[in-house]
Order: sequence, then C-alpha cells, then structure tokens
Amino acid sequence: MALVSAEGLQEAAVTSFVGRRTELGEIRRGLSASRMLTLTGVGGVGKTRLAMRAAWEMRRSFPDGVYWAELASLDDGRLLPQSVATAMAIRDQFTTWTADTLADRLRERRALLVLDNFEHLLDSCAKLVATLLTRCPGLRILGTSREPLRTQGERVLPVLALGVPPDDMRCPAQELRRFEAIRLFEDRAAAAVPHFEVDDRNGPAVARLCRRLDGIPLAVELAAASLRVLSPDDLLRRLDDRFRVLISGNRGSLPRHQTLRASIDWSFALCTEHERALWARMSIFAASCDVAAVEAVCADAALPQGDILTALTGLVDKSIVIRDARETGACYRLLETIRQYGREVLHTAGQEQELRKRHRDWYVKFAEETRRRWFGPAQLDLAQQARLNDANVRAALDFCLAVSDESHQGLRLADAYRDLWRVGGLTSEGRSWFARLLDNDVEPSVPRIRALASASYLALMQNDLATAKGILEESRKLAEDFGQEQSATLYQVCEAVAAMQKHDFSNAIVLLEEFVARHQDSDELDWLASALLNLGICHSVLGDGERAMANWTKMRDLCVHHGETWRRTWALWGLGFAAWREGDWDRAEAFELQCMDAQRVFDDTTCAANCLETMSWIAASTERSEQAAQLAGAAHTLRRDRSGPLSQFPFLTEYQDRTQAQVRQSLGEERYARAFKKGTHLTFDQVTTQLLGEPAARRKSDREGTAEHLLTKREQEVADLVAQGMSNKQIAETLVISQHTAETHVEHILTKLGFTSRSQIAALVAQGKK
Ligand SMILES: Nc1ncnc2c1ncn2[C@@H]1O[C@H](COP(=O)(O)OP(=O)(O)O)[C@@H](O)[C@H]1O
Ligand SMILES: [Mg+2]
Repeated sequence: MALVSAEGLQEAAVTSFVGRRTELGEIRRGLSASRMLTLTGVGGVGKTRLAMRAAWEMRRSFPDGVYWAELASLDDGRLLPQSVATAMAIRDQFTTWTADTLADRLRERRALLVLDNFEHLLDSCAKLVATLLTRCPGLRILGTSREPLRTQGERVLPVLALGVPPDDMRCPAQELRRFEAIRLFEDRAAAAVPHFEVDDRNGPAVARLCRRLDGIPLAVELAAASLRVLSPDDLLRRLDDRFRVLISGNRGSLPRHQTLRASIDWSFALCTEHERALWARMSIFAASCDVAAVEAVCADAALPQGDILTALTGLVDKSIVIRDARETGACYRLLETIRQYGREVLHTAGQEQELRKRHRDWYVKFAEETRRRWFGPAQLDLAQQARLNDANVRAALDFCLAVSDESHQGLRLADAYRDLWRVGGLTSEGRSWFARLLDNDVEPSVPRIRALASASYLALMQNDLATAKGILEESRKLAEDFGQEQSATLYQVCEAVAAMQKHDFSNAIVLLEEFVARHQDSDELDWLASALLNLGICHSVLGDGERAMANWTKMRDLCVHHGETWRRTWALWGLGFAAWREGDWDRAEAFELQCMDAQRVFDDTTCAANCLETMSWIAASTERSEQAAQLAGAAHTLRRDRSGPLSQFPFLTEYQDRTQAQVRQSLGEERYARAFKKGTHLTFDQVTTQLLGEPAARRKSDREGTAEHLLTKREQEVADLVAQGMSNKQIAETLVISQHTAETHVEHILTKLGFTSRSQIAALVAQGKK
C-alpha cells in the first residue's frame, strides 16, 4: 500500500506512458458527473497505469491532494479504512479506523482517492465507498478492478486494449505509429535494444505482433523485452506457433484474458530454469522487497543463493520483475497479473507452504532486527524501511494466524513491530493484529507477556480502557508466574497510563518510579523512555514543574546518548512545555524549535501538532499575538488532516482554550480570524521553514540522487544537451540518432522526473553541476 503523492505518481512510473487521450477525457468527464468511477478490464490491460496518469493530470482540480491506495496486497477487508487513512497520509495514532471515523476525517477534503485493484475486496470496498460518498462531499474516488463495485453512484469505464493496425493494413512505419500498441512496442523495444525503431522493414512484423497480442499492454511489453534475444521476425514466428496451437478449436481468436495468459505462458517458457523457479518463488512476496529478502526467502539447493542475482537480472530484462530505485536501495516487485501466475506455479509445485514459512521467518527476523536497532541512530531509516515492508509483514502475520505453531512467531513479530505501527499512524492496524494473535496463541510464555504489554500500550493510546483492563489483569497474573523475567514487569507502564486516564496521577507516579528504578540499566529502552515521558506528564499536571523537567531531561539524555530521534522529539516538546509553564519563554522556544527541526524529518504528526500549539502559547505569552493565532491555525489543519484531535490530551486543552481566548481578545475577533485562517493554509514544513529556514543541503542532494537513480546514461547525456539549450533536432544530430529517438529520450526524462518543461531539466542539470 505504497503512499504515493502526486509527484510520486510520476516518479513511480519508471517507463513512459503511451496514448489513451480518449480515455483520459472520459475519466475527467466521468469524475465530474459522478463521484466514483471504476476502470474495469482484464489484468494487464492498463487500468492501473491509466489511473495513475489520470490522477496526475487531474491533480490541480483537487486542492487537498491526490492519494493512492494500492489494495492488491491487502487480504483483509477489515483493514481497509486503516489502509485508506494511511494512503491519505493521516498519521493519527489515536483513532480507531472504521468507515465512519474515516468519513469524519475526510469530510472537508476536496481530494481524489484512487483505490487500485480492489476486485478481491468488493464487499468491504462497497461499504466504505458508500459511507465516504455520502459523508464527504468533496471527495472523488477512482477505482481499478476487474469487476465493478455495483454500488449506487458508481460509474464504470471499461478499459480496452491499445489500438492496433487493422489486419490488411500495409503502410509506412510513420503511419503505423498512429496506433498506440505500436508506439508502446517501439518504446519498450528501444529499452531492450538501444536505438530500436519501427521502420519499413520490421513494420509488418511489429504490426502483426501487436495484433496477435490484441494490443494488451502487458503482453506487448513482455514480447518487446524478448527482442534482446530475438529479431521481430523470429519473435513473430514463435508467437504465431504458440498461439496457433491455442486457437485451434477456438474459432480463430482468443478471448482477451486468454491472449494475455498465452503470452505470459510464452514468456515463462522462454525463461531459464532458475528464472522460472525465482518467478514462482518471488510471488510469495506481497509487495516489493530488496535483494537480501529475495535471497533469504527464495534460495535453496535447487536455486542456490549464488545464482539468484543472475536469475533476477534475467527476469528484470524480460520485464517480468520491475526494479524500483529507492533511496534505501533497489527494490523488486512483480505486477499483480505476473505475480498471480507465479503463485499458481508455486502452488502446483506444492511449494507454497514452504515458501510462506520462509517468508514469515524472514519478516520475523527483519522485525526483530529492526526492533533491536530501533532505539538508536538508524531509527529514521528503519521507520522508512518498515513502511516499504508493511504489506509483507501483513502477509507474514496472516501466515502466523493460519498456522499456530512454532514458538510464538506471530507474537514476536507483532511485539517487535509495535512502535513501527505507532510512528506510521497504524495503531489501529497493530491493535487488530494483537487482538487476533493473542486469541490464537494463548499459552503462557515470555513472548505472550511482551505482546500483552505492547497490546495494552496501543489500546491505551486509543483510550480503550476496557480492553486494556482485561489485558492488564492477565499480565498481572503472568507476572507472578514469570517473576524472574525482566519482561514480566513491562506492563506496569501501561498500568500507570491506565491510572492516568482515570486521573489517578499519584498512583501512576508510584508505579512509574518503581518501573524506572527497576529498569534503570535494562535494555528495555523504549519502555524506559515511555515511563519517563509519562512521569513528566504526571508531575506537570500536578503542578510540579521541576520534577516534570527532571524526568523529561532524563528522557532526552537517554535518547541523545543512544542517538535516538523519535522519543527525543517528545522529550523536547515536553521540556518546551514545562519551560513555558515556568515562564522561561526563551528556553521554551529553544526546546520547541529543536523539536520542530527533528520532526521535519521524522513526521510524527501528533508530536508536531503538540509542538505547534505550544509554540503558539509561547508566542501568546511574549506578545506576538498575530503569530500565536497563525500557529494555532497551522496546528488546527495538521490535527484535522493528519494527526488526532487535541482532546486526546485532556491536560493540554485547557491551556489551548485559555491562550486562544487571550489572543483573540488582544487582536480583536476579526484580526484573530484572519491570522488564524492564514495559518490554516500552512503545512508543518512551511511553518518550520519560516522559523528555521530551509534545510538546504538535504534538498539539493535529494534531487541529484533522484536524477542519477532514474535516468539512464544516455538520458543523462540528453539532459545535458537539453540544458545547453539544444532542440531535439540538434540533439539528434549531436548524438547521431534519429529525431524521433531524441524526442523519446526527452519525453522519458520529463516523465521520470515528473517535470513538464525543458527548462526544469536545465535547472536540475545546472544545480547538479554546482
Ligand atoms: N498507456 C500505457 N502506456 C504505457 N504503458 C502502459 C500503458 N498501459 C499499460 N501499460 C503497461 O502495461 C503493464 C500492465 O498495465 P497495468 O496498468 O498494470 O494493468 P492492469 O492494472 O490493468 O492489470 C504495466 O507494465 C504498464 O506500465
Ligand atoms: Mg492493476
């Protein structure tokens, strides 16, 4: 369920887009006449790609953004509202996601939501869509699926294959390019064989090929990739043979899905034995994965680890595996249709279970390793990596639920993932896994003790005292049986938080102090930090600023000592808040600014919103009323769109109310409203940049990295020439290529970088040279 911003939509498409002007117009019109449009059609026909393009082209019509929820890897319809919340960049750690809570949140948004690949979730999707359409008037939904939802208000646009030349057409190559399938073939062929062009010599063969493949984009891509080893004529001959066998008895043509099937079969047959095995095994991944995962999960005696890279490269060359360049390294994935094919092969070979087990083991290891390094300098990278692996972790957890064996793997995985769910705003999802896993595996054990503590921690995050109470009771009992275990006492932090929610702060302090004393030197650093945070809050509520400061300072020092960031931002926020209450404005502001600076990379929306509010109070106390109102406005938007409401922190709302009343009074209603409104248009990043300046170094290298990663060597050459102000014709002459090829290169560069003009390319090149 990759989160794709509007820019991401362009970058995610590493290959160029062909044609579809008519469909794009229909989508635009369809979505203005009705609020839900579903693109239907067989696998591989180009629904997803068309939706991406349409979303990108319509992005300006949606002031609150365009969001992409990839649902192919989601097996459990119950997780749908959470998935959509995540796709819409909401990182609320408190709300339990249902269709209703999601609708509440999206009520005012004028946004486009793309639900990609929902055919296996028709019921849950229909329910969610019905609620969203009724309650969120500004929201439009674009879906892709083999089947429509058939709900009220849904419009359906069947996506047909790309245009192919008619049977008897004999015409020059230039004419053939009028047909979209030909253009797609030519483009993908040029990626396989540099400088490939449709010309008068190969034109007839290419035209017949595209017809043979019914213009189905995926089939065309697979065929074009094999030009690496075959000439167009050879390719045509072989495909013809293959299809003739299939068509006999089928009255001269195949239904579309069979055409695709046949061309996938054919690609499969062209693979080496190792490639076939790898294709089948990689289908076990629910989403993209890195080389290490592929090696660990897919290698065995039949497919030795040393041969995996060769097989993987072969599959990339054949357009079976897609390689995505990411900041964190290359990732590999299969298109859904290709993945399903591999899965069938794996199933037929009787290897599915074994592979699922290896897949599970790998993600348990991944999660535990992440957890081991979590409280340290790699935290930010780990959080980003976790998001790339969510779909795979989900698949692994599903497997744990399906086979209740083997030393509590599911409980271990969930426990290790607790904070990763939380920082990603996936608290709801994490809770639902804990609930099912704890039901599934009830035997008393250390993994269970840990999982219970983590489960109650997440339940309490969402103010669900009732659930927490049951879990805590069991924890208390287990603590007696497992008394000598260090983890047996983790639940005490939760016990204290439960007391805090019942306003029993003195009791909470006793429990927390006992915990801190016991775990002073243990390696339960997350729990220790959490205890210190809560101690700070308790003292603060009880009016003991000095003790609050002392605990938050201890927490910050612990984080700094270990190079940790996330919890440190919470400590900094707390310190700023405590300093503000002590009347030490300068110090308060200094702490909050540090918090902001760290948050702009970490993006914990809850902490960020707290920080903006506290900044607003500091501004109010130092007679910067205008700024105070603006900051409150920015905090309001952040809470509404991406974080949870302030009412989650009852002890803070009082300050917020009091301060805003005071600012209102000093500015007067009208000025206050104006400043507040101005603030509502500012994102957290913008506020941070206003106060702290641009994080210049990082931005520049990001862009450079992007260009280097995404552009081929030839494209980089072309980009250089564009930057020198050359026309396509001049570029063609300089590089001794055809003008058409030069145009294609420029088109690719624009698409890959998400640019719309040559001057943007020039600016990027110039920046890179600095
Ligand atoms: N109009 C197009 N231009 C370029 N490539 C396309 C186009 N339509 C589809 N493709 C490519 O064909 C393949 C299958 O398309 P996809 O959108 O994944 O199909 P679907 O979602 O219908 O299964 C992808 O590799 C995609 O990039
Ligand atoms: Mg698709």
